[in-house]
Amino acid sequence: MTDRLLIRGARVLLSGGMLKVADVRVEQGKITQIGSTLSDPEARLIEAEGLVLLPGVIDPQVHFREPGLEHKENLFTASCACVRGGVTSFLEMPNTRPLTITQAALDDKLQRAAQKCLVNYGFFIGATAENLPDLRTAHPTPGIKIFMGSMHGDLLVDQEAVLDRIFYRDLNDPNWENRLIAVHAEDQARIHQRRQQFTGIADPAIHSVIQDNQAALLATQLALKLSKKYYRRLHILHMSTAEEAELLRQDKPIWVTAEVTPQHLLLNTSAYERIGTLAKMNPPLRSPQDQKVLWQALQDGVIDFIATDHAPHTLAEKAQGFVDAEAPGTGPSTAGGATVFLEPANAPSGMPGVETSLPLMLTQAMQGRCTVSQVVHWMSTAVAQGYGIPHKGAIAPGYDADLVLVDLKTYRPVLRAELLTKCGWSPFEGWNLTGWPVYTIVGGQIAFERGKVNPEVRGKALSFENA
Ligand code: DOR
Repeated sequence: MTDRLLIRGARVLLSGGMLKVADVRVEQGKITQIGSTLSDPEARLIEAEGLVLLPGVIDPQVHFREPGLEHKENLFTASCACVRGGVTSFLEMPNTRPLTITQAALDDKLQRAAQKCLVNYGFFIGATAENLPDLRTAHPTPGIKIFMGSMHGDLLVDQEAVLDRIFYRDLNDPNWENRLIAVHAEDQARIHQRRQQFTGIADPAIHSVIQDNQAALLATQLALKLSKKYYRRLHILHMSTAEEAELLRQDKPIWVTAEVTPQHLLLNTSAYERIGTLAKMNPPLRSPQDQKVLWQALQDGVIDFIATDHAPHTLAEKAQGFVDAEAPGTGPSTAGGATVFLEPANAPSGMPGVETSLPLMLTQAMQGRCTVSQVVHWMSTAVAQGYGIPHKGAIAPGYDADLVLVDLKTYRPVLRAELLTKCGWSPFEGWNLTGWPVYTIVGGQIAFERGKVNPEVRGKALSFENA
């Protein structure tokens, strides 16, 4: 098999943000040349006239469930869904079983991914009240994930004193690490208090009332305060409220970044009526006014990039319905205390996303809400910059050949029967989208071609500058 590709005649999104018809040559996994009328008799030729060539999506927040929760998803099924959606790299979260809270657990994930992942991968190390040494030394990792709220068991870190120890840096020591901290910002004490206040309501829409805007704001304020105290690199995951966006608009140090999900941009609390518990996620869906403010914040660079928070659960799990009674032991954690369960025993929170995120956002671009170049910035370029992932996020000579060829002319609905995620559903079923990938290329290998996945392709472990 040749390690060369020649992609001919696509409209190429060049690194300055311009779309221009060009040929792109790829060799040994790298983009080697961009020009007109290129030729390479040895190369596999892709005739791409009428298609648009973009850098592959880097999805910086996914839950792929392996090891331990493979009945929902695994690294192979998830990465098949990735290539169908134009996602060529992902950063995965530590709430698997066992939790990814030690170097051994991180190594195990990296090994599994090397064996079965079609796309490039990185794995967060999860913070507990106890594993500070692991957090400082784990490698390679994009950073430390802290669940400040809405999480099970040892991954919950909601006490300020413990958080302070994790954020701590000796500012007099130039060699002291400044590893990125990514926070799921919801205030557990407030969630606990509101669960008691709104007990006995079986409508899933109460989820957004219990885990309200204030719960998100309180936690984001605390994370920001600690980040400023130690000048610690902070990333706010799936920001969901107008209040948080306004906070960052007023006060966003240069070492802080934030992301938003397509769900929070495109769905709001009215979704509960339509799709019930499938709309339940953490942080919850918000109001149309929140959506408006989030869009503006993204447009203005207050929010830096987009992540899906791909969090698959089976339809059977989602069908458990919604009872808001709190399961035993679901209060705020005691630092380092016993395992507590923070979600009521009912339909779990989370929805899949990697297969639909790029077409969803490109459809927004085609409808004039943003530009194709902005979508690429939010879903690839800015993610590579934010996490210091070298040679990714742009189409330029010397960059990795992680590419997606999309069709911006045809509209096709999201159909359950076509989904490759193991959970087999999407909150966007029936939505008529354009910008579906026709080819997805990972490190110069064709991983997805006109509706067919090549299961032989393998991605690589990502590396992270400053981590
Ligand atoms: O809704 C969510 N589900 N949000 C998260 O942050 C975790 C995720 C999961 O793992 O199911």
